[in-house]
Amino acid sequence: MTSSAKPLSVAVIGAGMAGRSHAAGYRNVNTVFGAGLPPVRLAAIADANTALAEDAARRYGFDKALPSWEAVAEDPTIDAVSIVVGNALHRPIAEALVAAGKHVLCEKPLAGSLEDARAMAELERSADVVTAVGYTFRRSPGIAAIRDHVRRGELGDLTLFSGRYWCDYATDPKGPLSWRFKGGAGSGALGDVGSHVIDAAEYVAGPIASVSGATLSTQIPKRPLPLGAVVGHNAAPVSDEFGEVENEDTASFTARFESGLVGTFSVTRTGFGLPNGLAFDVLGVGGRAAFDQHRPAEYLFDDAQPDARTRGARQIIAGPQLPYFAGGVPMEAPGVGASNADNFTYQARAFLDQVARVAEPLPACASFAEGLRTMEIIRAIVESSQTGGAAVTVPPAV
Ligand SMILES: NC(=O)c1ccc[n+]([C@@H]2O[C@H](COP(=O)([O-])OP(=O)(O)OC[C@H]3O[C@@H](n4cnc5c(N)ncnc54)[C@H](O)[C@@H]3O)[C@@H](O)[C@H]2O)c1
Repeated sequence: MTSSAKPLSVAVIGAGMAGRSHAAGYRNVNTVFGAGLPPVRLAAIADANTALAEDAARRYGFDKALPSWEAVAEDPTIDAVSIVVGNALHRPIAEALVAAGKHVLCEKPLAGSLEDARAMAELERSADVVTAVGYTFRRSPGIAAIRDHVRRGELGDLTLFSGRYWCDYATDPKGPLSWRFKGGAGSGALGDVGSHVIDAAEYVAGPIASVSGATLSTQIPKRPLPLGAVVGHNAAPVSDEFGEVENEDTASFTARFESGLVGTFSVTRTGFGLPNGLAFDVLGVGGRAAFDQHRPAEYLFDDAQPDARTRGARQIIAGPQLPYFAGGVPMEAPGVGASNADNFTYQARAFLDQVARVAEPLPACASFAEGLRTMEIIRAIVESSQTGGAAVTVPPAV
């Protein structure tokens, strides 16, 4: 990096739960990995809730807070933008930003509907800016390490992928009817957290070819209307009036991967005591590995040990031997932890590496086409649930 390089100006649209994670990520991009990225100017955070935008701009050191996403699209000094608002807004914002020549990192799921996601993937094909989706778990050192084991054949032929994303954020029936509970089947737990575990499964074990045996259910069919702003999964003052929950709290399904591998999946937002439970086991004939986001700085690995007395899974503690760790944390020593916030920094760095076309970029972010793919898989899961669990083919991987 040279100080004379033209700075990259970044903005974040949405100052809620995930918007602040993007803001923190951009703030840290030049503290991780090698030189090559230009200086980053933290230009603006936009949110319709101006108090939230102002607070986030102050906390993360952004130049200004803006009251709308349109103000970001109209600002000619901004180069790259994260879209971190409710899913139904992703498409109009992405279209306006791309039309204004800005690089876009859009949160998952790609859009509020399959139609919107298809339009965004189409837009990507003709865009001359970077268009990316925020699958943050790809940046988890443990998950990336497990993918490496699989790719190197260290588990042998894969036998079973068993994945879940169990959360508790919707267990309280007095929790407000936020945007998360609106939209049709597939936009609930499947779109919100299922999209992450589906993407993680394909990232580790390869493309899914079909899904079957799907069941969707809603445990809390009505929720009170919020009286004010709702941030993330937080509680908020609510009215005595209730509205209908339009999507699933819980879903399960089976998948067959293109390789023939079988997968079983379950997702829920109404699982008591599980704040952020993305977890999976991947089993093969010659080894196995397991990851649990509740213990993000480690994973389990097992393979054939010659001495029967010491056979069994080993706890691999995150350290510089894992992807992203060396150069990615200030204290490069084993056992200092690995966090969700780090993953957002690595993701922001990967996105800006793509934008700045650095010589040795981090692995690229998922594209809009890959974001659409997850939504096609979710559509197939919903279709399976509506046809008594029939097998439904998903489009071939891009
Ligand atoms: N990658 C991850 O780990 C992760 C985690 C959480 C959420 N997400 C995704 O991030 C997105 C946002 O989720 P969240 O939990 O941060 O939501 P949130 O409800 O906490 O925040 C959304 C923000 O958008 C603002 N907003 C609404 N309409 C707006 C408008 N027209 N213009 C400007 N701002 C507007 C709201 O005021 C709110 O502050 C979603 O797509 C979600 O799926 C990703």
